[in-house]
Amino acid sequence: MHALGFLRRKRTRDGHPGHSTPSNPTSPVTPTAGGFDQSAVPRGSRSSAASHSTHRSSVAITHENNRPAEAVAGQQQQQQPMNTLSPQQPPYAVAQNSPSPGSDPQNVPRISNLINPPQNGGQAGYEQHQGNQGAQYTSSNGGVTSNPAQLQQQQAQQQQQQQQQQTEQTQQEQQQQQAQQVGAVQSEVRVTKGKYSLADFELLRTLGTGSFGRVHLVQSRHNHRFYAIKVLKKAQVVKMKQVEHTNDERRMLGEVKHPFLITLWGTFQDARNLYMVMDFVEGGELFSLLRRSGRFPNPVAKFYAAEVTLALEYLHSRNIIYRDLKPENLLLDRHGHLKITDFGFAKRVPDKTWTLCGTPDYLAPEVVSNKGYNKSVDWWSLGILIYEMLCGYTPFWDSGSPMKIYENILRGRVKYPAYINPDAQDLLERLITADLTKRLGNLYGGSQDVKNHPWFAEVTWDRLARKDIDAPYSPPVRAGAGDASQFDRYPEEAEQYGQPGHDELGYLFQDF
Ligand SMILES: Nc1ncnc2c1ncn2[C@@H]1O[C@H](COP(=O)(O)OP(=O)(O)O)[C@@H](O)[C@H]1O
Ligand SMILES: [Mg+2]
Repeated sequence: MHALGFLRRKRTRDGHPGHSTPSNPTSPVTPTAGGFDQSAVPRGSRSSAASHSTHRSSVAITHENNRPAEAVAGQQQQQQPMNTLSPQQPPYAVAQNSPSPGSDPQNVPRISNLINPPQNGGQAGYEQHQGNQGAQYTSSNGGVTSNPAQLQQQQAQQQQQQQQQQTEQTQQEQQQQQAQQVGAVQSEVRVTKGKYSLADFELLRTLGTGSFGRVHLVQSRHNHRFYAIKVLKKAQVVKMKQVEHTNDERRMLGEVKHPFLITLWGTFQDARNLYMVMDFVEGGELFSLLRRSGRFPNPVAKFYAAEVTLALEYLHSRNIIYRDLKPENLLLDRHGHLKITDFGFAKRVPDKTWTLCGTPDYLAPEVVSNKGYNKSVDWWSLGILIYEMLCGYTPFWDSGSPMKIYENILRGRVKYPAYINPDAQDLLERLITADLTKRLGNLYGGSQDVKNHPWFAEVTWDRLARKDIDAPYSPPVRAGAGDASQFDRYPEEAEQYGQPGHDELGYLFQDF
């Protein structure tokens, strides 16, 4: 498989090259009595690797608001987005004056190497990959749920559910094809309400934390496969007025099925927490790769941007806006293809919405200025993402203050460094424009206009959609399934999950 050598350098985490996990390759973290590794990181401190590349928080003002009058009233009352109350974010990126090692344009492989299918190995790789996916689908779906010896009845139920789910998925795929043919938008729901519980999983280390959740690597006690579980504290969700977003997150994730979107297997809750069981995506965040690389060469940025474009096209065809595009939410699978995670702000919006939510650097001016908005915001964010991949920093970033970032967004002046490819700059100018009648993706041609832009000229979209194109970088996931070495270390959760108690907030999350 072709890959870019300069991007394959091992990452150094806390002084250890490569992965930092203990010996057993199938169980990367030795569980402690508390259920997960408490020893790796001193409580309350971040690893040095994490500190130089701090995640940007998502923000949201109150809950969803679909009516202009209420929205305006709501925003007048609450001018402060949540994270403006928290300490200022440290600068996370510096503009690179000189190209990062290997990003010398002379050494950059041509896009044709990256985007066109390989001669021989690629097809085999594709088939094998597809085969793996299929195997994982059937066995993981059956296996997570129950142990036959102990839970025969549950297994029967599960098999029934599985058959039903497969039938529904087949139907869904057929319907999607039909929808694509006639340009219609479907809204059928994929049933993901697996009857899982905490007892079905061994909780391992934390993979990531965000504004609203913590994601753990877990291992099924039944099929021994690895998954990721996002844990949200109900009280926190309520306090941060994210009840509706959290229910939407579950609903939207349950409805989507796309090669570049994360798969949700099921959800459950206990007295205090909500849990979402997803595929574990081993290759780490695009964010980490980008921070380690400084910036990406033009073809590399193009590859990731193209995969995101297909995912956005799919979501928008179903009237779902994503609203939190950023490298922190883009994961790399073991082959280096993208998976978008974090549907915390995804929402079905057939017309318009007014809620201020997203991540400051990535917010479109129509969001900041409290105009009603729709899918246009994701195309703006795609522009910011491409800019950040090409430059190593976002265009409106300003000393870490969200208010200054918002001012810059409204001012709308973007400086394009001389090294940006002219086609890329042309696309960015058409995406990062406040004029909604000019923004690519938001015009009559929709996503097709973006895909037809000259910067994407070499992309063979149908092959990309089938992952029939080698990714520019293969994450060094060497220790097999459950290897979480590509993720930064975080202080672990102090609170034991699954504590019994009065569930006073459960009624707000009845879908879980
Ligand atoms: N399925 C997954 N596999 C591996 N890591 C994940 C997965 N989902 C999320 N993560 C990690 O957890 C982090 C936080 O999850 P996210 O859903 O983005 O939470 P938040 O809504 O709080 O931002 C992500 O940035 C990513 O590093
Ligand atoms: Mg996130």
